[in-house]
This record gives sequence, C-alpha cells and structure tokens, in this order.
Amino acid sequence: MSLTNWLIVLLVIMTVASLILFQSLNYYRSLVKQKGAFRKWPIKLINLDEVDPIFKTNELGPTLESLVKFIGRGHLIVPGGTTDSEAWVLSVLSKKARSIFEFGTCTGKTTYLMAVNSPPDAQITTLTLPPDKVQDYVQDSSDSKRATERALSESGFTRFLYSGTPEEKKITQLFGDSKHFDQSPYRKKADLIFIDGSHAYSYVLSDSQKAFDMIADGGLILWHDYRGPSLNKDVYKALNQLSREKPLRHIEGTSLVVYRQPMSTNR
Ligand SMILES: C[S@@+](CC[C@H](N)C(=O)[O-])C[C@H]1O[C@@H](n2cnc3c(N)ncnc32)[C@H](O)[C@@H]1O
Repeated sequence: MSLTNWLIVLLVIMTVASLILFQSLNYYRSLVKQKGAFRKWPIKLINLDEVDPIFKTNELGPTLESLVKFIGRGHLIVPGGTTDSEAWVLSVLSKKARSIFEFGTCTGKTTYLMAVNSPPDAQITTLTLPPDKVQDYVQDSSDSKRATERALSESGFTRFLYSGTPEEKKITQLFGDSKHFDQSPYRKKADLIFIDGSHAYSYVLSDSQKAFDMIADGGLILWHDYRGPSLNKDVYKALNQLSREKPLRHIEGTSLVVYRQPMSTNR
C-alpha cells in the first residue's frame, strides 16, 4: 500500500475513534449529571418516616402499620406508571386520607390502590384528559415538546383498572383538561393530592397552584417524576421553582416530591 493510502486509513481510524470517544464521554456526562453528581438537585431529600410516622421501622423493618393491598409491577413497564416503592408509599398514605384528589388517571392503577387502601368512607376524585378532549390541551411556549407529546399520547384511557370493582363507588372520575378545571368546590378539602397529569412545565405549575388551593390543613401533596435535569426536565424545573417558595422535599429512593400543608393557627 502506498503512503497516501496508509494515511487515509489512519485518518479514518482516528475519526471513528474520536467519534466513539466523544459519544462515550457524552453518555457518561449525562449519566453523572442525571445522578446529580455535578450539581446537587435543589430539593432536599427526606426519609419516609419524616413524611409520616406510619413509616417508622423497628428492628424487623417496616411494621404492620404499613401493610396495604397492593399490585406490584415487577420489571414490567407500565405507561406512566409508578414504581413498586412509589405505589406502596401512596397506598400507605391513603390509609389515613378521607378526601383524595389525583391529577392524571392513566390506567387508574394508583386510583384503585388509593381507593382500596383508604378508609371505607373515603372519596377519591381523579381527573384525566380523555382522547375526545385532547383539543382542549393548552400548550405554552415554555413547555418542552417531549413533555407535551407524552401528555397527549398518554391521554387514551376511558376504562380503568378500578372499572367494575367494588371500589368504583368511592371514585369520582372527572374528564377534562386540568388548566380548565375549576378547583373552587374542593378548596381546603383534600387530605392527599397526587399530581401526575401532564408533565409539561406550565401544567406542573398550574396543577400545583390548584393543589395548594385544594389541600386541607395537615394534608399532603405528592408529585411524581422528579427525575433530574435530563429525564422529565419540565417537572424538575417547575418543582425547583416552587421549592423556592414552599418547603418541598424529595422522598429518598423515589421520584416523589412531597409537601405538607401546615395546620392553620386560627383553629
Ligand atoms: C403519567 S399518567 C398518570 C399515571 C397515574 N397517575 C398512575 O399512577 O397510574 C398521566 C395522565 O395524565 C393525563 N393528562 C395529561 N395531560 C392532561 C391534562 N392537560 N389534563 C388532565 N389530565 C392530563 C393523561 O391523560 C394520563 O392519563
């Protein structure tokens, strides 16, 4: 082979090697960034037993107080679904809640778990965007394209896991866009609110403002999918922003963020 050919081969090898190196470095950087190693995520971590004493453990681990009826998902991927730990946390907290509100029903798995584990007289209201109302969705220029597309693609459910079960009588299903939802009849009534609707920035802020209006004294608001700046960046940005005004906490080992409404002093 001539010297020119050798040089061409060398050049090709060097180009391919630098492309591989560049891709690997980028991938590594995104992993590290995702784990918060470069920059700590702004919302402080909290242990479960600081969220509620029902999670206190003894020398044997979690106690029977945290026993719930449960459907695990194992390694299965479920659309928009919670992990088994997150589903357990929400189920346990439901045991103490008489008035529950959920933004984003999806398959209705969490709705069912909250209904089946809450006291017999509890009421669960869940709001979701059905396929025949997707035109009501109000995209904002601050929303990422990915979060908007995902919200719309998840809006395909009109039958839910709880449909036809005895728990259905505890559940009120609302259909509509959450920015159009009038929360005034629920003001200060909810003991537990789960925000898991559209994950677009403007929606997380709008659903949260409504939830702060709806939460009862001593009640809990939980948000799903606080997963850092790479995955669900709109949720990350919106919750970080809210955490400057309210004491939000990120529950260790989950993507749940929690806020407890203080008891009002004029009681
Ligand atoms: C991630 S899934 C909810 C998962 C469910 N909470 C669970 O734990 O199984 C998101 C849901 O939010 C609904 N959603 C998306 N955008 C919405 C909007 N603008 N108003 C109301 N619901 C919306 C979708 O239809 C979908 O059912």
